[in-house]
Amino acid sequence: MWQRAIRSLPGGNGLLSKRPDRYAPDIWPSYFSKSSGVNVIDLDGNTFIDMAQMAIGSSILGYAHPELINSVSDSIKDGVNCTLNSPEEVLLAEKLLDLNPFAGGVRFARSGGEAMAMAVRIARAKTGKDKVIFSGYHGWCDWYLATNLDNKNGLNDHLIPGLSTMGVPAGLANTAIPFIYNDIKSFESIIKEHSDAGIICLEGARYDFPSKEFLESVSRMAKKYKMIIISDEITSGWRMTDGGVYKINGFNPDIVVYAKAMGGGFAISAVVGTEEVMHSAQDTFMSSTMWTERVGFVAALTTIEILTREKVWEHLIKIGTQIGDGWIAIAKKYGLKITVSDFKPLITMKFHYQERNQALVTLFIQEMLKRGYLSATSVYVSYAHTEKIVKDYLIAVDECFFIISNAIENNNEDILLDTKVRSDSFNRITP
Ligand SMILES: Cc1ncc(COP(=O)(O)O)c(C=O)c1O
Repeated sequence: MWQRAIRSLPGGNGLLSKRPDRYAPDIWPSYFSKSSGVNVIDLDGNTFIDMAQMAIGSSILGYAHPELINSVSDSIKDGVNCTLNSPEEVLLAEKLLDLNPFAGGVRFARSGGEAMAMAVRIARAKTGKDKVIFSGYHGWCDWYLATNLDNKNGLNDHLIPGLSTMGVPAGLANTAIPFIYNDIKSFESIIKEHSDAGIICLEGARYDFPSKEFLESVSRMAKKYKMIIISDEITSGWRMTDGGVYKINGFNPDIVVYAKAMGGGFAISAVVGTEEVMHSAQDTFMSSTMWTERVGFVAALTTIEILTREKVWEHLIKIGTQIGDGWIAIAKKYGLKITVSDFKPLITMKFHYQERNQALVTLFIQEMLKRGYLSATSVYVSYAHTEKIVKDYLIAVDECFFIISNAIENNNEDILLDTKVRSDSFNRITP
């Protein structure tokens, strides 16, 4: 199916993170026929347990969560799009204002990248300034990719290295300036150099949890230079609180952006901001037919209801900690050099074998596939992951880390691989 895909779809699909070249290119199952809980059935009828991406973080409740599926199915019967507005748009906006007490306005989109483009547009409309200082990944739009116009390696420390600027207007050069997350020195030197910027944009959390001092510095500088702070909670949101990670950090952004988990796998994203900033949404044209379709709103209302009613984030943190502690203990047993992230609900390990990393990670994915797991170096924990599932998973990890430690010792990971080596970069795919 993937070989067919790359003939009809340039690049194979619409999302880099679902391309097989990021896992174990020649043996990754690539397509699913059914999914439920943490189980995924591929096109050949093989069942895998998802200890990897859970729909790149969007299926926070697990696949096909019955309450969510039922509420969406019920709403579909009454029609999904109409000449008149869907009242759920208002209900969801009110719900988000309740959960984000600093905020006075909300606008919806469908994907994360779109919502970030909207947030930046609103903030630019408010400040009248073009330049954005940022850290982290924020999607596919021009405002963000413009970073690499100034330096083709500008995004290398921000999740996806090597993103191309083809098609991004050259006139956007010097409008998106990166700094290193959680690094006060990098942040303060960039902000002093670019004090004409109007926006500071950063992720709620990714690998590291931001330090109090770092966030204090961001708040202080934003105030000093009259900049708008956008907290991108597209990946971090709903995984540690009833909303953004900003809430536990005592951080005060002007805009918070949610997507992914908020819809439990359905398409919905939101820009939530202070009354003052969000009023600028009326000074700029942002309008799209499918931003008003009903299913996304219903899905988000039900997902948020389940997340808050059952405090799902407590489960995610507990399970993420179990996975991270398990990795560390097994790595220690076999003398493997790994480090594990602070951010438990998206628990991530890094191998430290320089140029051998990619082959060793590919070997890990290959061996886990043989044992019935979709795996990677991160796990987006979901509500459907149980302690028992993790216990069994760690037994498989133990076997695979043993294989990896032998490969390191014998320098033979290339021989053990039944597939090409994976890649993290944005690569052109040719049929
Ligand atoms: C922090 C962050 N911002 C923005 C995006 C883009 O969201 P989407 O893929 O829904 O366009 C992502 C996606 O991974 C993300 O993690």
